[in-house]
Amino acid sequence: MESSTWNPPTLRTDRLVIRPFTASDFPALRAYAQAQSAAEYGSWLGGAGPADAARYLVDTIARYGRPPRADLAISFEGQLIGGVAYRQIWMSPPTMELGWVIHPAFTGKGLAREAVGALLGALFGRFAELQRVEARVRASDASGIRLLERLAFVREGSIRHERSEADGALLYGLLRSEWLK
Ligand SMILES: CC(C)(COP(=O)(O)OP(=O)(O)OC[C@H]1O[C@@H](n2cnc3c(N)ncnc32)[C@H](O)[C@@H]1OP(=O)(O)O)[C@@H](O)C(=O)NCCC(=O)NCCS
Repeated sequence: MESSTWNPPTLRTDRLVIRPFTASDFPALRAYAQAQSAAEYGSWLGGAGPADAARYLVDTIARYGRPPRADLAISFEGQLIGGVAYRQIWMSPPTMELGWVIHPAFTGKGLAREAVGALLGALFGRFAELQRVEARVRASDASGIRLLERLAFVREGSIRHERSEADGALLYGLLRSEWLK
């Protein structure tokens, strides 16, 4: 994939602006990161403390424009409420994995679906070779499952967990042809 396609996009939907992070986003990033249960969802920041959030922000900004990953901020009514991320996980067929997080104070409004839907359109549009997008959700995350199925993702498998099936995750996939439909 051409390296210029990794420049972080700014996407606008009816209610959201999805854009690159800046250093001034730190307090808001920290707020939505802290609001998530690290034990329940795992920590995509690499830890739960302020230093972890700061390192995540610095690394994210420094990585812009370089494969294989980009993390973007979700802004709603001028306020940072969450993030989306994509990374290339497979070369052939070219495959991306995506993730999302929304501050709990802003869930239940369809904002995650709006953000993930916009990101999918942008990814299939920018990366002409992209064949497939994957996402993992916790088996207990009913809203995450609903979100993916509403966006035409197909459940492809279960990801086991040492503790119990309920602690496990589900793997979802979306092919380019399914997205275009
Ligand atoms: C982010 C998160 C809260 C969802 O965000 P959200 O903005 O509330 O999601 P939406 O409002 O777009 O809702 C998605 C769908 O789930 C439905 N939904 C919401 N809560 C639900 C529940 N408890 N049970 C079933 N469906 C539910 C919504 O009605 C919506 O469906 P619809 O479009 O048919 O109405 C949820 O996915 C989450 O907590 N994820 C944690 C982080 C994570 O694991 N990310 C995924 C992998 S990185």
